[in-house]
Amino acid sequence: MKRTAQSEGVLTLARSAPTIPESSPKGGTTVAQGVSPGYTARSGPSPVGTAHLRVVRSLITLATTLVILWILLSPLTTRAAADAPPDPTRGKQLFEKRCTGCHSLDADKEGPHLRGVYGRKAGTAPGFGYSDALKAANFTWNDALLEKWLTDTESVVPDNNMDFHVPNPDERADIIGYLKVSSGH
Ligand code: HEC
Repeated sequence: MKRTAQSEGVLTLARSAPTIPESSPKGGTTVAQGVSPGYTARSGPSPVGTAHLRVVRSLITLATTLVILWILLSPLTTRAAADAPPDPTRGKQLFEKRCTGCHSLDADKEGPHLRGVYGRKAGTAPGFGYSDALKAANFTWNDALLEKWLTDTESVVPDNNMDFHVPNPDERADIIGYLKVSSGH
């Protein structure tokens, strides 16, 4: 049965060959000739099995290799993303999403206004009611301190009043990039 079906296939291909436009008669002939020896070679039962097994085995090997490569390379790509320069535009969006519940650039709310905070001495926005802890802080906000502050405010100034942090390092970097740009740095 199989062999009949296959030879019919070959016959159909061979028969259809002449219908290929006359401008490329060679191409048509090549297709028909190329296919029929292939069918003949695979019509024996044992070569079919072996060839199939070989193909399946090499596909499995290929898939395994790809998965291993993917697992090995994914931390690299993640780290590359973390090393990417801060994106102040994305930082602005994140600031509006995460910080504006308590801060704005130019008005004091539950937290002090933040325009100019980069390069400003901590706890010194005029007229804002800081915690005693932040008022007593004696440093100027820079990349490293803002990074630490947004990770865990308590690690910078224990007993401060800002009960919030940003767990994602990429987000922290972008927000700091935005604070920096909006402070004129
Ligand atoms: C739940 C309210 C709240 C949220 C949300 C919040 N903050 Fe604050 N933030 C405060 C308060 C209150 C203070 C003043 C802390 C003190 O006096 O101890 C403060 C202080 C600060 C300071 C120090 C300012 C200075 O003049 O020394 C910085 C910098 C800061 N916040 C950045 C941010 C950023 C960036 C975000 C968003 C990722 C954010 N905060 C989200 C409430 C908040």
